[in-house]
Amino acid sequence: MENVENMQTIKIAIDGPAGAGKTTISKELARFFGFLYVDTGAMYRAVALKAIRNHINLNDEDTITDMLETTSVNLKSTADGGYQVLLDDEDVSSLIRTLDIATAASQVATIQSVRIKLVEFQRKIAATDNVIMDGRDIGSYVLPHANIKIFLTATIEDRAVRRFKELQERGSATTFEQVKRDIKFRDKNDSSRAFAPLMVARDAMVVDTSDNSLDTSIELLKEIIREKLYELLYGAEANA
Ligand code: DC
Repeated sequence: MENVENMQTIKIAIDGPAGAGKTTISKELARFFGFLYVDTGAMYRAVALKAIRNHINLNDEDTITDMLETTSVNLKSTADGGYQVLLDDEDVSSLIRTLDIATAASQVATIQSVRIKLVEFQRKIAATDNVIMDGRDIGSYVLPHANIKIFLTATIEDRAVRRFKELQERGSATTFEQVKRDIKFRDKNDSSRAFAPLMVARDAMVVDTSDNSLDTSIELLKEIIREKLYELLYGAEANA
């Protein structure tokens, strides 16, 4: 894939609801294809963490907009191929992985000024690097001209089980019912907001991960992306 570097940057958008496996799958795809992984959900989580720390009501648009003036959110690559989420230069990577922060992130993500600031940053990253960016609005709003758009989904039951296991592994005492409630809340909140809601982009390929293990989904997506990249690099006939 050495020609990739000589082209304008390549953008792969991976969207979908909470628990569909976006982060795990996107991270592995980015590692495999040598792209930069951009976790946009982590950015909304970092903003939510700061609002909570400052005791700001999550519906208080004016105060959150003011807070943004003095807020920096960054993703910093680490030597082991991972990344740190930096909030005002503090590493908050673990602190943002709780159920409370997930719910709060969904709430602050409805505020237009929050989205505008983070989307501007996300577009800047995609202009300089080949990216696999995951979120809710990447194919539909952030990178409408992305070269490849995937919408990952799964049944609510499967997504809740996955998220519950992840939280348990982190030592969280959250119950399965709480996880399911959060996912239901976020599905509704993320898809009903007025500005850049969660949606399937017109030209996205929908992949349902319900009946597959994450490993199987990763292999399937590697195949889909590999084919598309060959088409991009060498023309459609290369695959014929
Ligand atoms: O992907 P995640 O679970 O880390 O995202 C947390 C919340 O952030 C999600 O419920 C909605 C919001 N979000 C968003 O509105 N747009 C994105 N591109 C990514 C996340």
